[in-house]
Amino acid sequence: MSLIGVFDSGVGGLSILDEALRQLPQHDYIYLADSANAPYGERSPEWIAQRSLSLCKYLAQAGCDAIVVACNTATAQAIKDIRAAIAIPIVGVEPGIKPAAMQSANGIVGVLATEATLKSDKFNALLSTLPVDCQFIKQAGAGLVPLIEAGKANDGETLELLAKHLEPIQIAGSDTIVLGCTHYPFLRKAIRKLLGDKITLIDTSEAVVKQLKRQLESLAPHQPSISADLPQFGSVHFVSSKDEHALLRMAQDLMHTDLKNHRVSTTQLGSVS
Ligand code: DGL
Repeated sequence: MSLIGVFDSGVGGLSILDEALRQLPQHDYIYLADSANAPYGERSPEWIAQRSLSLCKYLAQAGCDAIVVACNTATAQAIKDIRAAIAIPIVGVEPGIKPAAMQSANGIVGVLATEATLKSDKFNALLSTLPVDCQFIKQAGAGLVPLIEAGKANDGETLELLAKHLEPIQIAGSDTIVLGCTHYPFLRKAIRKLLGDKITLIDTSEAVVKQLKRQLESLAPHQPSISADLPQFGSVHFVSSKDEHALLRMAQDLMHTDLKNHRVSTTQLGSVS
C-alpha cells in the first residue's frame, strides 16, 4: 500500500481527503494543514510558492509515495516548482471551470475562489482555453476561509458574507458555480440555503482522486487495489502547524468518512525549512 500526503493551507483539503478515503481507503495518509498560516489566498505568490514547496518537501521526507496539493491557491502558485524539486507524483487541484462550462445550460458560470487563484497566470491560462461563449463571473471569497477554519461554515456571519460574495454571481444569472477553493465544498449547505437547489455546484474532488488513483497505478501497476489479504482501511495521520487536536475534531465534523475504521494519530508540525 502507498503513503499519500495531502496538503492544504488548513482544513479545506479535508474535502479531498474525504473523497480519497472513499475511493482509496486501503492506503495510508498524512494530512498536513498549515492552519497557523491560513488563509494563503491573500498572501503574495512568492510566499505561497516558497511555503508550499517546504511543506511538500516535509511530506516527501516523511516517506510519501505521492502528494496531493489539495489547495487551488498552492497549485496555482507552486505546483511547477514542487514537481521540479520532488521526484514523486504530485497531483494538483484546479477550479473546475471546464466541467462547469460544459454543464451550464445558459453559459453563465460563477467562479468563487481565492484572490491569489483568480489572479494567477495558471488560472488565467486555463480560462483562455475555454470557449468564449461562456461567461465567467469571477469572485474572490475574501474572509470565508478564516470562518471555515473557525468551524463557522453554517453560522449567520458566514451566511451574511457569503451572500455578499454571491450577489454579483446571482445578478449575472449564473446557473452554475465553481467551488474554486477546497474550503468551499464545506459551504455547500450555506450556498443552497442562499441560492436554492437549482444552482449547480462544481467541485473537482472526485476527478482529483481519480487522477491520484491513476498515478498510484502507474507506480505499482501489478498491485491489486483491494485484496482479501490486505487491510481494507489504512491509517490517517493528521499534522497541523496550529492545533492538531482541533484539526482532528474538524476532520471528524466535516468529513463523511467514519474515521473509526482507520488508525488515527496526530502531530504538531515543528519548524520546516
Ligand atoms: N483551500 C485553499 C484553496 O483551495 C486555500 C484557501 C486559503 O488559504 O486562502 O485555495
